[in-house]
Amino acid sequence: MYQQFYGFSEDPFNITPDPKFLYLSEEHNTALSMLKYGLEHSKGFMVMTGEVGCGKTLLCRSLLQSLDENTYETAWIYSSNVTQEQLFRSILKEIGMPASKLPESDHLDVLNEYLLSKINKGKEILLIIDEAQNLSYELLEAVRLLSNLETDQRKLLQILLVGQPELKVKLNQPQLRQFKQRILVYYELHPLSPKETQRYINHRLTIVSSQPGLPKITYRAFRKICKYARGIPRVINNVCNKAFMSAYGRLSKKVETKDVMQAIKDIERLSL
Ligand SMILES: Nc1ncnc2c1ncn2[C@@H]1O[C@H](COP(=O)(O)OP(=O)(O)O)[C@@H](O)[C@H]1O
Ligand SMILES: [Mg+2]
Repeated sequence: MYQQFYGFSEDPFNITPDPKFLYLSEEHNTALSMLKYGLEHSKGFMVMTGEVGCGKTLLCRSLLQSLDENTYETAWIYSSNVTQEQLFRSILKEIGMPASKLPESDHLDVLNEYLLSKINKGKEILLIIDEAQNLSYELLEAVRLLSNLETDQRKLLQILLVGQPELKVKLNQPQLRQFKQRILVYYELHPLSPKETQRYINHRLTIVSSQPGLPKITYRAFRKICKYARGIPRVINNVCNKAFMSAYGRLSKKVETKDVMQAIKDIERLSL
């Protein structure tokens, strides 16, 4: 809406996880490197946790983008209340088994065979389970079964579990001890510091700015954004988006404290 006024080529604070906008904070950078390391060494599970909106899904997308698409096949599953059969079926579907060939039962055997045929063609298969904090203990056990699929030399499947902090709590339960022992890479994403928040905002503005010189956010307005967003990128996007809208309403090229206050008021009203 305000893009033209500020000379933006597109919305800088869109909340879709678009890798084009990836800002590599120290944490995001380390997380990405560790996931790449985990994939290259393909020994076990990888787990990434973090608060809602801190960039987990975006990091996964960026990871996928960096992989050689001729080699990697990926199954990306959002866990909800699925049964073990449904989970295995979705994986088969995601890695390209035609619907007509999907089995009614014996999924594990079929999956094993199908994965083997892919591996023999030189493929690597990565399974990402997003929002994995929703997995029941039974399903986590099913996922562990999947991780057992292997030939003499190698695992058939690499598994990355992504979830909110509850996932970490779950994985620390005694009944998941065995599961936990298989985790090769674990990374917990934390919110951005105020300095990084500033860089993050500038990074997004730079990507969409066609005119030289970025629109200004006053220091006090920025402090307010930081205090409200507490380093969570999705919240930063939301506040900034609405604050720019408010500044645009005044036809001002400068985002001021009152714009941020208006933005916060709008957000709070919507979340009632
Ligand atoms: N490092 C980052 N660089 C750029 N944008 C980010 C970054 N981290 C998060 N975001 C943005 O924040 C929003 C939420 O990110 P998302 O990956 O969906 O979070 P999560 O999966 O952890 O809930 C998205 O708009 C995303 O683009
Ligand atoms: Mg997500």
